[in-house]
Amino acid sequence: MRRLLAANWKMHLYAEQALTLTQQLRAAWEAPELRTLPGIVFPPALYLRELAMQLAGSSIALGAQNGYPGEFGAFTGEISMAQLAAAGATWVLVGHSERRQYFGENAELLRKKVQDAQARSLSVLYCVGETLAEREAGRTLFRLQTQLQEVLSENIIDWNRLAIAYEPVWAIGTGINATPDQAQEAHAYLRMQLAQLGAPADQIPILYGGSLKPDNAYALFSQPDIDGGLVGGASLSADSFLAIAQAHLQTKPL
Ligand code: 13P
Repeated sequence: MRRLLAANWKMHLYAEQALTLTQQLRAAWEAPELRTLPGIVFPPALYLRELAMQLAGSSIALGAQNGYPGEFGAFTGEISMAQLAAAGATWVLVGHSERRQYFGENAELLRKKVQDAQARSLSVLYCVGETLAEREAGRTLFRLQTQLQEVLSENIIDWNRLAIAYEPVWAIGTGINATPDQAQEAHAYLRMQLAQLGAPADQIPILYGGSLKPDNAYALFSQPDIDGGLVGGASLSADSFLAIAQAHLQTKPL
């Protein structure tokens, strides 16, 4: 099943706010229609254990925004994939542009993260996307191809535990979303490239991220290769995230 809606809270919210928001989402997801839409919440790692208890038994899964390969080790400040899984995470984000840009994460590290996450039975939401300069230079598709190939090729243990997020860097947190046509072109291309890597591409969720909001979600989700979203800013309030979820239900009924 390709439908999926994810909330990336990034470095936002105090513990009480995170708990309240989680409770609101959990309650809303009890509605029969919403229960058919798999959700993921990516909170700051500090809150994972508590939120895992809050979300137990719901169709909202819990994910970590980052993780380090391995189980234990002398890596001050890091949290291992194994520790995340033990804390209740079932997903992890890898390759988010903020990790690539601000923390210098390169393809070699991302390959290790993807492989180790899957080895620890986590599902991976792997993020790709071009910068504005790359788009303007006509290099968008080449960039996406490179980001898939250098991290995923011959590195995937289980294709059933992989989803892709297309997040154009110029659209993240800017209020400027990719147009539905721009996003559809990228998503269709990503699906074709996944097939070339040997993936069951028509079963892999490809999510759009980048200033996804209630007022543009319907048009974006109406595109055939946009299976859902990875929502940043608009996931910090239950109202706007739920409005995006409703747009998903309207455009992609079961
Ligand atoms: P915004 O929705 O705030 O643009 O963030 C998108 C994003 O980076 C999600 O991972």
